[in-house]
Amino acid sequence: MKKFQFLALLMAFSGTALMVTSCDKSDNCGDTPPTYTSEMKAIIDAKCVSCHKTGGPAESVGVYSTYASMKPYLEQSWKEIDAGRMPQAGFPQLTDAEKAAYECWKNAGFPEN
Ligand code: HEC
Repeated sequence: MKKFQFLALLMAFSGTALMVTSCDKSDNCGDTPPTYTSEMKAIIDAKCVSCHKTGGPAESVGVYSTYASMKPYLEQSWKEIDAGRMPQAGFPQLTDAEKAAYECWKNAGFPEN
């Protein structure tokens, strides 16, 4: 009986500890946020660069072909995605996982590497 009470207490305690830890990580991004190089370039190349490139229809509002050329537009790019305005309607959209990765990238301050 004593042993059972101890186990129950232990389980309650570790449950609380787990909850506290997960509350700290409210954004579910984990310890290693995505970077431009590790993950985001592939998504941006596939879903944005067809228009946001030199000579493309969206050249005047941002060329996303490289990190350097995209840098001034990073905050705005997330706002457009978050609002569902980009990619333009009728073109391949970000999957939920890609959108989540983009948000984690933003939360981390849009790291390049
Ligand atoms: C099919 C072409 C196309 C694709 C794909 C596309 N865009 Fe755009 N984007 C445009 C055009 C055209 C404009 C300018 C007109 C407008 O704002 O709708 C634009 C404008 C923008 C703007 C400026 C909006 C403003 O009001 O300042 C941002 C930011 C942006 N796009 C981000 C993105 C991101 C991020 C992606 C990829 C996830 C993306 N776009 C994919 C065509 C595209």
